[in-house]
Amino acid sequence: MKNKSLISINDYSKEEQLKILQVAGEFEKTPVQNILKGHVIASLFFEPSTRTRLSFESAINRLGGKIVGFSEATNTSVQKGESLRDTILTVANYSDLIIMRNPMEGSARFASEISPVPIINAGDGSNQHPTQTLLDLYSIRKTQNKLDNLNVAFVGDLKYGRTVHSLVIALCNYNTTFHLVSPVELKLPSSVKMYVKEKNLEYHQYVELEEVIPEVDVLYMTRIQKERFSDPLEYERIKNFYVLKHDMIEQTKENLKVLHPLPRVNEIEIGVDKSSKAYYFEQALNGVYVRQALISLILGLK
Ligand code: CP
Repeated sequence: MKNKSLISINDYSKEEQLKILQVAGEFEKTPVQNILKGHVIASLFFEPSTRTRLSFESAINRLGGKIVGFSEATNTSVQKGESLRDTILTVANYSDLIIMRNPMEGSARFASEISPVPIINAGDGSNQHPTQTLLDLYSIRKTQNKLDNLNVAFVGDLKYGRTVHSLVIALCNYNTTFHLVSPVELKLPSSVKMYVKEKNLEYHQYVELEEVIPEVDVLYMTRIQKERFSDPLEYERIKNFYVLKHDMIEQTKENLKVLHPLPRVNEIEIGVDKSSKAYYFEQALNGVYVRQALISLILGLK
């Protein structure tokens, strides 16, 4: 993995992904290590973020590294018309590794093709969010004690939800049965469903959430992605399509865990948080360990 960019989850083999989870487990036991001393990492966020940006920063700080970058492009020379190409070539002079979130699909791949330092895609439009996938895999394995042969339901905006696209692809390595719950307008893209089919795995599509809850091991809730809708009225019509309530997860499998990449809007009621089946805040914490592992491996420090 040394010097290898991570743009789409499939850029890393199953073995490489498992190696990251293993190293993340070591960081969970010992999160403060000084192995990044002398390294500078750039964090370029052209789109809002709480968890991804701050967990990367937390990961780097706990490893003794330094961060340069921005959390919005308004104060940078992008405002003067500087291209992404020139921004990346410049920032690469100042850093050993670039973490980038950008609203344009394909922007991270483009950056990796021109950058002399590795790029980590922290989300490119509605395309991919591979570091979220790694922490999702870590969270699933930690709570289910395995990754193989699980029933996983994805609920909500499966069309624009980049975390869903990356995680479905990654779970195809583990004989997963997929339960895809969405309004008809927000179904999983055909390209991702084709990928599942080519792996000879089953997927089932639903509109009603209640149908699927009793049989699944993982309930992966997602937000309807307001920022991807061209018609605000369409978003208003659909925004509260799914709302998970505490009583809906009472009569479910013992091992059920509710995951959500967050941020949440209305799709999980606050009352669910007190359930032992709610795991989304622990999931966000796991992001620190996984990102510590990823950075260390890319920089050849583990
Ligand atoms: N899960 C996730 O990507 O959250 P942020 O948008 O807050 O980074």
